[in-house]
Amino acid sequence: MRGDARELLRVHLRQRAELGETEVFLDALTASDVRDLAARTPVERRAEAPAHGVPGNDIVQIGSLDSLREVALGCPRCRLAESRQHVVFGEGNPQAEVVVVGEAPGADEDRTGRPFVGRAGKLLDLLLAAAGYARADVYLCNVLKCRPPGNRDPRPEEVEACSPYLLRQVELIRPRAILAFGTFPAQTLLGSKESIGRMRGRVHDYHGVPLVPTYHPAALLRNPAWTRSTWEDLQRLRTLTDPA
Ligand code: URA
Repeated sequence: MRGDARELLRVHLRQRAELGETEVFLDALTASDVRDLAARTPVERRAEAPAHGVPGNDIVQIGSLDSLREVALGCPRCRLAESRQHVVFGEGNPQAEVVVVGEAPGADEDRTGRPFVGRAGKLLDLLLAAAGYARADVYLCNVLKCRPPGNRDPRPEEVEACSPYLLRQVELIRPRAILAFGTFPAQTLLGSKESIGRMRGRVHDYHGVPLVPTYHPAALLRNPAWTRSTWEDLQRLRTLTDPA
């Protein structure tokens, strides 16, 4: 009903403007429709507005991971702020050689506020350990810091609102390499639209930091046949961080 009313209002105003009217009377709407429009809640106004809260340009200038976390924990920049239990900022070694980037928190991460603690996280731990990386040595984070309801895919406006945090995390940590688990981190960091199947298998460049894309552990749980390719990608990562 509210959506209908707004659309009516838009059409009405456009028609009046095309007729050259500078003043309008909202006679195509009922008084209660107009009141309804005027009475939108702050949450609705927030959802309609472009990303807000601390501007993205300011986020990418925050000077420390701790300050960045502080800002992220109160982030209102997209609608996921309304449904989250916790902001899952990221954790691990702030001087890590490897930043591991996933897609978005799931239910377990939303509940605990920690990245990669569910089923996919357990597999991620195993994969990293098999490649010689302890969880505590790397830095783990996601493109989105809040859980999309029902684990749906991140929406473009959510990625846009949230990615300044990720970009700043990478800048502050300055790792030797980035491991991108799945389509969203690889596409977000590389500004690409390619599928993970096409991006994986080679080392990419993210502003001078080598980036290795590979399949997401959740995808591996569904497609165990991709484990071999993932293993090859992890070996590729190893060559980047092993001393020469
Ligand atoms: N999947 C992700 O991409 N990130 C998490 O933190 C958990 C599951």
